[in-house]
Amino acid sequence: MNELILGIETSCDETGVALVRDGELLADVTATSMEEYARYGGIIPEIASRAHLESFVPTLDAALEQAGVALSDVAAVAATAGPGLVGPLIVGVSAAKALALALGKPFYGVNHIVGHIAVDQLVHGDFPEKFIGLAVSGGHSHLMLIRNIATDIEELGGTLDDAAGEAFDKVGRLLDLPYPGGPHLDRLAREGDAQAIRFPRALRSGKNKAEHKYDYSFSGLKTAVARHIEGLQARGEEIPRADIAAGFQEAVVGALMEKAIMACHENDCDTLVIGGGFSANSRLRALAEAEAARSGLKVRIPPIRYCTDNGAMIAALGWEMVRNGVAPSPFDISVNTALPREITIVR
Ligand code: KG4
Ligand code: ZN
Repeated sequence: MNELILGIETSCDETGVALVRDGELLADVTATSMEEYARYGGIIPEIASRAHLESFVPTLDAALEQAGVALSDVAAVAATAGPGLVGPLIVGVSAAKALALALGKPFYGVNHIVGHIAVDQLVHGDFPEKFIGLAVSGGHSHLMLIRNIATDIEELGGTLDDAAGEAFDKVGRLLDLPYPGGPHLDRLAREGDAQAIRFPRALRSGKNKAEHKYDYSFSGLKTAVARHIEGLQARGEEIPRADIAAGFQEAVVGALMEKAIMACHENDCDTLVIGGGFSANSRLRALAEAEAARSGLKVRIPPIRYCTDNGAMIAALGWEMVRNGVAPSPFDISVNTALPREITIVR
Protein backbone atom coordinates (compact mmCIF):
# COMPACT_ATOMS: atom_id res chain seq x y z
CA MET A 1 0.00 0.00 0.00
CA ASN A 2 2.57 2.57 -0.93
CA GLU A 3 0.60 4.50 -3.52
CA LEU A 4 1.02 8.25 -3.46
CA ILE A 5 -2.28 9.99 -2.59
CA LEU A 6 -2.97 13.62 -3.41
CA GLY A 7 -5.49 15.34 -1.12
CA ILE A 8 -7.26 18.61 -1.95
CA GLU A 9 -9.30 20.68 0.51
CA THR A 10 -11.28 23.77 -0.54
CA SER A 11 -14.55 23.63 1.42
CA CYS A 12 -14.22 27.01 3.10
CA ASP A 13 -11.41 29.60 3.12
CA GLU A 14 -8.35 27.33 3.12
CA THR A 15 -6.78 25.94 -0.05
CA GLY A 16 -5.07 22.81 1.24
CA VAL A 17 -2.99 20.38 -0.80
CA ALA A 18 -1.19 17.41 0.75
CA LEU A 19 0.57 14.22 -0.27
CA VAL A 20 0.42 10.99 1.73
CA ARG A 21 2.20 7.72 1.09
CA ASP A 22 1.56 4.67 3.25
CA GLY A 23 0.25 6.70 6.16
CA GLU A 24 3.15 9.11 5.99
CA LEU A 25 2.51 12.78 5.33
CA LEU A 26 5.07 13.90 2.75
CA ALA A 27 3.76 17.43 2.23
CA ASP A 28 0.99 19.65 3.54
CA VAL A 29 0.61 23.18 2.16
CA THR A 30 -2.17 25.63 2.97
CA ALA A 31 -3.08 29.05 1.58
CA THR A 32 -5.85 31.03 3.25
CA SER A 33 -8.04 33.98 2.36
CA MET A 34 -9.09 34.49 6.01
CA GLU A 35 -7.33 37.88 6.41
CA GLU A 36 -9.80 39.31 3.91
CA TYR A 37 -12.82 38.53 6.09
CA ALA A 38 -11.95 40.26 9.38
CA ARG A 39 -13.53 43.48 8.14
CA TYR A 40 -16.72 41.69 7.01
CA GLY A 41 -17.03 39.61 10.21
CA GLY A 42 -17.56 36.46 8.16
CA ILE A 43 -16.50 34.57 5.07
CA ILE A 44 -17.68 35.88 1.70
CA PRO A 45 -18.11 32.75 -0.47
CA GLU A 46 -17.51 34.60 -3.74
CA ILE A 47 -14.17 35.96 -2.52
CA ALA A 48 -13.23 32.52 -1.18
CA SER A 49 -14.01 30.84 -4.54
CA ARG A 50 -11.81 33.29 -6.41
CA ALA A 51 -9.02 32.92 -3.87
CA HIS A 52 -9.09 29.12 -4.29
CA LEU A 53 -8.86 29.51 -8.05
CA GLU A 54 -5.82 31.79 -7.71
CA SER A 55 -4.10 29.72 -5.01
CA PHE A 56 -4.70 26.23 -6.31
CA VAL A 57 -1.84 25.75 -8.78
CA PRO A 58 0.83 27.49 -6.63
CA THR A 59 -0.29 25.44 -3.60
CA LEU A 60 -0.15 22.20 -5.61
CA ASP A 61 3.31 23.08 -6.94
CA ALA A 62 4.56 23.87 -3.43
CA ALA A 63 3.23 20.55 -2.11
CA LEU A 64 4.89 18.54 -4.91
CA GLU A 65 8.15 20.35 -4.26
CA GLN A 66 7.94 19.82 -0.51
CA ALA A 67 7.36 16.08 -1.03
CA GLY A 68 10.03 15.84 -3.71
CA VAL A 69 7.68 14.05 -6.11
CA ALA A 70 6.29 14.66 -9.59
CA LEU A 71 2.60 14.94 -10.44
CA SER A 72 2.99 11.79 -12.55
CA ASP A 73 3.87 9.82 -9.35
CA VAL A 74 0.37 10.40 -7.96
CA ALA A 75 -1.75 7.21 -7.85
CA ALA A 76 -5.08 8.67 -6.69
CA VAL A 77 -6.62 12.09 -6.19
CA ALA A 78 -9.00 12.87 -3.31
CA ALA A 79 -10.90 16.12 -2.83
CA THR A 80 -13.52 17.41 -0.39
CA ALA A 81 -16.92 17.01 -2.11
CA GLY A 82 -18.90 18.33 0.89
CA PRO A 83 -20.07 19.66 3.21
CA GLY A 84 -18.95 23.24 2.68
CA LEU A 85 -19.54 26.31 0.53
CA VAL A 86 -20.70 25.49 -2.97
CA GLY A 87 -18.30 27.71 -4.98
CA PRO A 88 -15.17 26.74 -3.04
CA LEU A 89 -16.12 23.04 -3.21
CA ILE A 90 -16.61 23.22 -6.97
CA VAL A 91 -13.14 24.72 -7.46
CA GLY A 92 -11.42 21.88 -5.57
CA VAL A 93 -13.52 19.07 -7.02
CA SER A 94 -13.09 20.37 -10.58
CA ALA A 95 -9.34 20.63 -10.11
CA ALA A 96 -9.19 17.11 -8.65
CA LYS A 97 -11.26 15.64 -11.49
CA ALA A 98 -9.11 17.40 -14.10
CA LEU A 99 -5.89 16.10 -12.51
CA ALA A 100 -7.22 12.56 -12.14
CA LEU A 101 -8.49 12.51 -15.72
CA ALA A 102 -5.22 13.86 -17.10
CA LEU A 103 -3.22 11.34 -15.06
CA GLY A 104 -5.58 8.43 -15.81
CA LYS A 105 -5.96 7.81 -12.05
CA PRO A 106 -8.99 7.38 -9.76
CA PHE A 107 -10.78 10.31 -8.16
CA TYR A 108 -12.37 10.21 -4.68
CA GLY A 109 -14.87 12.93 -3.69
CA VAL A 110 -14.80 12.60 0.11
CA ASN A 111 -16.47 13.95 3.26
CA HIS A 112 -14.78 16.93 4.93
CA ILE A 113 -16.08 16.16 8.44
CA VAL A 114 -14.84 12.58 8.26
CA GLY A 115 -11.49 13.96 7.08
CA HIS A 116 -11.19 15.96 10.32
CA ILE A 117 -11.14 12.63 12.18
CA ALA A 118 -9.13 10.66 9.56
CA VAL A 119 -6.14 13.03 9.80
CA ASP A 120 -5.40 11.80 13.32
CA GLN A 121 -4.11 8.51 11.92
CA LEU A 122 -1.21 10.28 10.23
CA VAL A 123 -0.07 11.43 13.66
CA HIS A 124 -1.15 8.77 16.14
CA GLY A 125 -1.24 5.62 14.00
CA ASP A 126 -4.03 3.24 13.03
CA PHE A 127 -7.46 3.58 14.62
CA PRO A 128 -8.83 0.78 16.83
CA GLU A 129 -11.61 -1.48 15.52
CA LYS A 130 -14.30 0.82 16.78
CA PHE A 131 -14.20 4.23 18.41
CA ILE A 132 -16.14 7.45 18.98
CA GLY A 133 -15.36 10.44 16.77
CA LEU A 134 -16.20 13.99 17.84
CA ALA A 135 -15.89 16.44 14.96
CA VAL A 136 -16.15 20.05 16.10
CA SER A 137 -15.63 22.89 13.67
CA GLY A 138 -17.01 26.23 12.56
CA GLY A 139 -20.06 24.71 10.90
CA HIS A 140 -20.38 21.28 12.53
CA SER A 141 -20.45 19.49 15.88
CA HIS A 142 -21.05 15.75 15.51
CA LEU A 143 -20.68 12.58 17.53
CA MET A 144 -20.09 9.43 15.49
CA LEU A 145 -19.63 5.74 16.16
CA ILE A 146 -16.91 4.73 13.72
CA ARG A 147 -16.19 1.10 12.81
CA ASN A 148 -14.28 1.91 9.64
CA ILE A 149 -13.35 5.48 8.76
CA ALA A 150 -13.73 4.79 5.01
CA THR A 151 -16.90 2.72 5.02
CA ASP A 152 -18.80 2.49 8.29
CA ILE A 153 -19.87 5.58 10.22
CA GLU A 154 -22.97 5.86 12.36
CA GLU A 155 -24.10 9.33 13.37
CA LEU A 156 -25.07 9.37 17.05
CA GLY A 157 -25.96 13.04 17.33
CA GLY A 158 -24.97 16.57 16.56
CA THR A 159 -25.78 20.18 17.07
CA LEU A 160 -29.42 21.19 16.73
CA ASP A 161 -28.48 24.81 16.05
CA ASP A 162 -25.09 26.56 16.25
CA ALA A 163 -21.89 24.52 15.99
CA ALA A 164 -19.30 25.01 18.76
CA GLY A 165 -16.97 27.13 16.60
CA GLU A 166 -19.90 29.17 15.28
CA ALA A 167 -21.10 29.87 18.85
CA PHE A 168 -17.56 30.98 19.76
CA ASP A 169 -17.40 33.26 16.73
CA LYS A 170 -20.79 34.83 17.63
CA VAL A 171 -19.95 35.33 21.31
CA GLY A 172 -16.54 36.64 20.17
CA ARG A 173 -18.44 39.36 18.34
CA LEU A 174 -20.43 40.20 21.51
CA LEU A 175 -17.12 40.57 23.34
CA ASP A 176 -15.66 42.80 20.60
CA LEU A 177 -13.08 40.23 19.55
CA PRO A 178 -11.80 40.09 15.94
CA TYR A 179 -13.23 37.50 13.52
CA PRO A 180 -12.97 34.53 13.75
CA GLY A 181 -13.58 34.82 17.48
CA GLY A 182 -12.77 31.21 18.48
CA PRO A 183 -9.01 31.48 19.07
CA HIS A 184 -9.29 35.00 20.56
CA LEU A 185 -12.00 33.89 22.98
CA ASP A 186 -9.86 30.91 23.94
CA ARG A 187 -7.00 33.28 24.87
CA LEU A 188 -9.25 35.75 26.70
CA ALA A 189 -10.84 32.93 28.72
CA ARG A 190 -7.43 31.98 30.15
CA GLU A 191 -7.44 35.29 32.08
CA GLY A 192 -10.93 34.74 33.47
CA ASP A 193 -12.60 32.74 36.22
CA ALA A 194 -14.71 29.97 34.66
CA GLN A 195 -16.81 29.66 37.83
CA ALA A 196 -17.60 33.39 38.21
CA ILE A 197 -20.66 33.24 35.96
CA ARG A 198 -22.53 30.01 35.42
CA PHE A 199 -24.23 29.91 32.04
CA PRO A 200 -27.00 27.37 31.26
CA ARG A 201 -26.27 24.05 29.57
CA ALA A 202 -28.98 22.68 27.29
CA LEU A 203 -30.34 19.14 26.72
CA ARG A 204 -29.08 17.82 30.02
CA SER A 205 -32.28 16.92 31.84
CA GLY A 206 -35.86 15.65 31.47
CA LYS A 207 -37.57 15.07 28.14
CA ASN A 208 -34.96 17.02 26.18
CA LYS A 209 -32.18 14.83 27.47
CA ALA A 210 -34.10 11.66 26.62
CA GLU A 211 -34.92 12.82 23.09
CA HIS A 212 -31.54 14.35 22.38
CA LYS A 213 -29.17 12.09 24.20
CA TYR A 214 -26.20 12.78 21.95
CA ASP A 215 -27.25 16.15 20.55
CA TYR A 216 -25.88 19.58 21.34
CA SER A 217 -27.50 23.01 21.43
CA PHE A 218 -25.50 26.19 21.88
CA SER A 219 -27.82 28.93 20.63
CA GLY A 220 -29.62 29.34 24.01
CA LEU A 221 -26.25 29.66 25.68
CA LYS A 222 -25.21 32.32 23.19
CA THR A 223 -28.45 34.22 23.91
CA ALA A 224 -27.83 33.91 27.67
CA VAL A 225 -24.43 35.55 27.18
CA ALA A 226 -26.01 38.34 25.12
CA ARG A 227 -28.67 38.96 27.83
CA HIS A 228 -26.04 38.94 30.53
CA ILE A 229 -23.99 41.60 28.71
CA GLU A 230 -27.10 43.69 27.98
CA GLY A 231 -28.08 43.55 31.67
CA LEU A 232 -24.66 44.78 32.78
CA GLN A 233 -24.71 47.54 30.16
CA ALA A 234 -28.21 48.66 31.22
CA ARG A 235 -27.01 48.95 34.82
CA GLY A 236 -23.89 50.80 33.70
CA GLU A 237 -21.69 48.08 35.18
CA GLU A 238 -18.31 47.04 33.86
CA ILE A 239 -18.30 43.97 31.55
CA PRO A 240 -16.03 41.26 32.98
CA ARG A 241 -15.03 40.07 29.49
CA ALA A 242 -12.57 37.42 30.57
CA ASP A 243 -14.96 35.89 33.12
CA ILE A 244 -17.76 35.82 30.53
CA ALA A 245 -15.42 34.17 28.00
CA ALA A 246 -14.28 31.60 30.57
CA GLY A 247 -17.81 30.79 31.80
CA PHE A 248 -19.14 30.47 28.25
CA GLN A 249 -16.20 28.32 27.15
CA GLU A 250 -16.68 26.05 30.16
CA ALA A 251 -20.35 25.50 29.28
CA VAL A 252 -19.57 24.61 25.63
CA VAL A 253 -16.56 22.42 26.32
CA GLY A 254 -18.25 20.75 29.30
CA ALA A 255 -21.26 19.80 27.15
CA LEU A 256 -19.08 18.51 24.31
CA MET A 257 -16.98 16.32 26.58
CA GLU A 258 -19.83 15.06 28.75
CA LYS A 259 -21.74 13.58 25.82
CA ALA A 260 -18.61 12.31 24.06
CA ILE A 261 -17.57 10.39 27.18
CA MET A 262 -21.10 9.04 27.61
CA ALA A 263 -21.03 7.87 23.96
CA CYS A 264 -17.78 5.99 24.62
CA HIS A 265 -19.18 4.24 27.69
CA GLU A 266 -22.51 3.34 26.15
CA ASN A 267 -20.99 2.01 22.94
CA ASP A 268 -18.16 0.09 24.57
CA CYS A 269 -15.44 2.21 23.03
CA ASP A 270 -12.17 2.85 24.82
CA THR A 271 -11.01 5.51 22.35
CA LEU A 272 -12.28 9.01 21.57
CA VAL A 273 -10.86 10.87 18.56
CA ILE A 274 -11.54 14.61 18.44
CA GLY A 275 -10.98 16.70 15.31
CA GLY A 276 -12.02 19.91 13.55
CA GLY A 277 -11.10 23.58 14.01
CA PHE A 278 -12.64 23.80 17.46
CA SER A 279 -10.44 20.97 18.74
CA ALA A 280 -7.65 23.56 18.76
CA ASN A 281 -9.39 24.94 21.86
CA SER A 282 -7.03 24.79 24.83
CA ARG A 283 -9.73 24.11 27.43
CA LEU A 284 -11.17 21.24 25.39
CA ARG A 285 -7.69 19.74 25.07
CA ALA A 286 -6.99 20.12 28.79
CA LEU A 287 -10.33 18.61 29.80
CA ALA A 288 -9.81 15.70 27.39
CA GLU A 289 -6.36 15.06 28.85
CA ALA A 290 -7.74 15.17 32.39
CA GLU A 291 -10.47 12.70 31.47
CA ALA A 292 -7.91 10.35 29.93
CA ALA A 293 -5.79 10.51 33.09
CA ARG A 294 -8.84 10.02 35.33
CA SER A 295 -10.68 7.21 33.56
CA GLY A 296 -8.12 5.61 31.27
CA LEU A 297 -10.14 6.56 28.19
CA LYS A 298 -7.77 6.97 25.25
CA VAL A 299 -8.31 10.46 23.88
CA ARG A 300 -6.64 11.32 20.58
CA ILE A 301 -6.53 14.88 19.26
CA PRO A 302 -4.24 15.82 16.37
CA PRO A 303 -1.73 18.68 16.80
CA ILE A 304 -3.31 22.10 16.26
CA ARG A 305 -2.05 22.55 12.69
CA TYR A 306 -4.13 19.51 11.65
CA CYS A 307 -7.25 20.67 13.52
CA THR A 308 -8.19 23.57 11.26
CA ASP A 309 -8.86 22.86 7.58
CA ASN A 310 -5.93 21.38 5.65
CA GLY A 311 -5.10 19.06 2.76
CA ALA A 312 -3.63 16.36 5.01
CA MET A 313 -7.08 15.39 6.33
CA ILE A 314 -8.32 14.75 2.79
CA ALA A 315 -5.18 12.90 1.70
CA ALA A 316 -5.54 10.77 4.85
CA LEU A 317 -9.14 9.90 4.00
CA GLY A 318 -8.21 9.26 0.34
CA TRP A 319 -5.53 6.85 1.54
CA GLU A 320 -8.16 5.06 3.65
CA MET A 321 -10.43 4.75 0.60
CA VAL A 322 -7.62 3.21 -1.42
CA ARG A 323 -6.44 0.78 1.25
CA ASN A 324 -10.01 -0.33 1.98
CA GLY A 325 -10.58 -1.04 -1.71
CA VAL A 326 -13.46 1.47 -1.93
CA ALA A 327 -14.61 2.12 -5.52
CA PRO A 328 -13.71 5.67 -6.68
CA SER A 329 -16.29 8.40 -7.32
CA PRO A 330 -17.62 8.68 -10.88
CA PHE A 331 -16.35 11.74 -12.72
CA ASP A 332 -19.85 13.17 -13.05
CA ILE A 333 -20.55 13.65 -9.32
CA SER A 334 -21.60 17.05 -8.03
CA VAL A 335 -20.50 18.62 -4.79
CA ASN A 336 -22.89 18.27 -1.83
CA THR A 337 -22.97 21.27 0.50
CA ALA A 338 -24.90 19.33 3.17
CA LEU A 339 -23.25 15.93 2.88
CA PRO A 340 -24.27 13.75 5.87
CA ARG A 341 -21.52 12.12 8.00
CA GLU A 342 -22.52 8.55 7.09
CA ILE A 343 -21.65 9.21 3.46
CA THR A 344 -17.87 9.08 3.46
CA ILE A 345 -17.56 9.26 -0.33
CA VAL A 346 -19.87 10.82 -2.93
CA ARG A 347 -21.19 8.70 -5.81
O1 KG4 B 1 -12.59 23.14 10.92
P1 KG4 B 1 -12.47 24.59 10.67
O2 KG4 B 1 -11.10 25.15 10.32
O3 KG4 B 1 -13.44 25.05 9.55
C1 KG4 B 1 -14.70 24.45 9.39
O4 KG4 B 1 -14.75 23.35 8.80
O5 KG4 B 1 -15.66 25.07 9.90
O6 KG4 B 1 -13.01 25.33 11.99
C2 KG4 B 1 -13.01 26.73 12.14
C3 KG4 B 1 -13.65 27.08 13.47
C4 KG4 B 1 -13.94 28.56 13.64
O7 KG4 B 1 -15.25 28.72 14.12
C5 KG4 B 1 -12.91 29.00 14.67
O8 KG4 B 1 -13.34 30.09 15.46
C6 KG4 B 1 -12.78 27.74 15.51
O9 KG4 B 1 -12.80 26.69 14.57
N1 KG4 B 1 -11.55 27.72 16.30
C7 KG4 B 1 -11.55 27.74 17.66
C8 KG4 B 1 -10.18 27.75 18.05
N2 KG4 B 1 -9.42 27.72 16.92
C9 KG4 B 1 -10.28 27.71 15.86
N3 KG4 B 1 -12.55 27.75 18.53
C10 KG4 B 1 -12.23 27.75 19.83
N4 KG4 B 1 -10.96 27.76 20.30
C11 KG4 B 1 -9.91 27.77 19.45
N5 KG4 B 1 -8.66 27.77 19.94
ZN1 ZN C 1 -13.34 21.92 8.75
